[in-house]
Amino acid sequence: MTKADIIDGKAFAARLRESISARVARLEAAHGLTPGLAVVLVGNDPASEVYVRNKARQTREVGMASFEHRLAAETSEAELLALVERLNRDPAVHGILVQLPLPEQISEAAVIGAIDPAKDVDGFHVVNAGLLMTGGEGMVPCTPRGCMMLLRDRLGDLSGLRAIVVGRSNIVGKPMAHLLLREHCTVTVAHSRTRDLAAECRRADILVAAVGRPEMIRGDWIKPGATVIDVGINRVPAPEKGEGKTRLVGDVAFDEALAVAGAITPVPGGVGPMTIATLLDNTLIAACRQIGVDPATLSG
Ligand code: GUN
Repeated sequence: MTKADIIDGKAFAARLRESISARVARLEAAHGLTPGLAVVLVGNDPASEVYVRNKARQTREVGMASFEHRLAAETSEAELLALVERLNRDPAVHGILVQLPLPEQISEAAVIGAIDPAKDVDGFHVVNAGLLMTGGEGMVPCTPRGCMMLLRDRLGDLSGLRAIVVGRSNIVGKPMAHLLLREHCTVTVAHSRTRDLAAECRRADILVAAVGRPEMIRGDWIKPGATVIDVGINRVPAPEKGEGKTRLVGDVAFDEALAVAGAITPVPGGVGPMTIATLLDNTLIAACRQIGVDPATLSG
């Protein structure tokens, strides 16, 4: 039985961070600018705390300025909007990320809509979503951008390949579908109402799983030799590790997929590490554009 290659997202992300560090240093030397990323966390969701801490640490490690804003869980929408306005006007801040989810008294759409699209390093603002859809140059959401980098690295030219995206969220599924379309794939977007999902998946040369359901995609749903990108990060009980222990699994049944796919991203160590690296890259791109520098001129 053939065994799929494992796509090492952790190593790819480490190389990307090295390239970002070098480009940040060149931007500083040539234009005297240090890119700055502001991360806003409202409340104290433990998972969000971990993400925000990691983002801040990695931001500093690549030589950028990190601004952390921690607000109480009972913060009003008006207070958060006032902070966003302040960050929009702050010339030291080139990227703004408001960690989601937000407490229920705050409208996520209102907050995302208030971020200056030029500083929207998440790519969630409707202006950036629209630019992605129409082939313009906006900010591209971090996770799908990371998935595309892994696919391009593995496959080179994606023209004409059949791709399926399982999941239709605004954060991953929909932008992923548009990015694949931009690379000339034939794209299917599947979701919870899709009929015969297994058969749809089996036609795809590229399968991107972004549903948030542990090990839902089975090995016999995968076309032999296909490239599988697993965006899911699900914590499940692991009694074999001991009472009350858990482990992380993706949306794909990894061991089954390994026997069928051509290549697959593991969980953890696949797509996850790419997300923060692409966030930092987006911040660098945003900073360049804000001072009228072509980001491509920084590449060594
Ligand atoms: N929460 C989980 N993922 C994300 C993300 O990519 N961006 C933001 N802002 N919040 C998140």
